[in-house]
Amino acid sequence: MSSIKRFGVSIEHNLLREFDGFIKKKGYENRSEAIRDLIREALVKEKTTHPEAEATGTINIVYNHHRPRLSDRLTHLQHNSPLNIFSSTHVHLDKDLCLEVIVVNGKAGDIISFGEKLGSLRGVLHSQIFLFSPAFE
Ligand code: NI
Repeated sequence: MSSIKRFGVSIEHNLLREFDGFIKKKGYENRSEAIRDLIREALVKEKTTHPEAEATGTINIVYNHHRPRLSDRLTHLQHNSPLNIFSSTHVHLDKDLCLEVIVVNGKAGDIISFGEKLGSLRGVLHSQIFLFSPAFE
């Protein structure tokens, strides 16, 4: 871990009060850790908006497995993806619905395209893409 630096921040009273309420609700013990997390989040977000940036992520989808050929299409797309697919976890949620969490690595733009392709298939009811780029402690 790199050395800790201290710096002062000037902030409007009302904004600070709102922020203190926010971090209390989130369970932070002090402002420093909350500010560090917000900075990390902003930097990762900024980094992963570059399509060529290397990223790790998860694609989460919920779908109805009764939809004809959908399971086959999902499997086919994963086998032919440009991404490194580390794992694919399948959970049978109930009689109809399946949750699949696919852990991938590749270019941020490719992860987003692939996640959107899966999410747009008929029978996929929910989809979400999480992107992470490890660069900051
Ligand atoms: Ni299932």
